[in-house]
Amino acid sequence: MIIETIFSTLDEAGSPNFAPMGVAWGGDYLTVRPYRSTHTCRNLLSNGYGVVNLSDDVLAYVRCGLYHEVLPHFPAKSIPGVVFQETCSWREIEVISRSGSDERAELRCRVLHAGRQKDFLGFCRSGSAVIEAAILATRLDRRDLRTTAEKLDHYGEIVEKTGDEPEKQAFRLIRDYVRKKGER
Ligand SMILES: Cc1cc2nc3c(=O)[nH]c(=O)nc-3n(C[C@H](O)[C@H](O)[C@H](O)COP(=O)(O)O)c2cc1C
Repeated sequence: MIIETIFSTLDEAGSPNFAPMGVAWGGDYLTVRPYRSTHTCRNLLSNGYGVVNLSDDVLAYVRCGLYHEVLPHFPAKSIPGVVFQETCSWREIEVISRSGSDERAELRCRVLHAGRQKDFLGFCRSGSAVIEAAILATRLDRRDLRTTAEKLDHYGEIVEKTGDEPEKQAFRLIRDYVRKKGER
């Protein structure tokens, strides 16, 4: 089962990086498959540590995934790393084996520490639509523009009908991002 998370890592200079990543969930072991072009992949390969944040904050997914914002954070407890300040819970991990393809790494990780701040209530319908739209936006180069536009319109309708302000704001950021990419 793949769970959508916000992955935080440190680069070689110790600067934090946040990015949404799907994680194959297990108890004490997790697997993440970052594209080799991502900062997350480079950081995990160079220092071997990361934090898997389980968050229902869809704006945070969009801010770090599309706009590369450094989210507010505090130090991890057991590894060199940082935890997203608003996360519901988190897992601090170390990479224990590396495989994958030229395009995408497959990193098996061991959980060293689990922390919790509040309940994860789940995504409402519009939250799920934002997550799907954000995934679409990060893969624009692999999709044709017409299918992307149709799918975005569909997710946009769900957000308009059922979303609160955070989901609407997140969706506006996704639309802006896609429009700017299309202008290039
Ligand atoms: C919900 C969601 C899940 C994602 N899962 C992955 C993933 O499993 N692997 C990956 O390489 N990129 C994934 N992405 C795309 C990355 O988050 C995106 O390319 C990001 O800009 C990478 O940031 P980084 O270069 O700072 O690591 C996902 C995006 C979203 C919105």
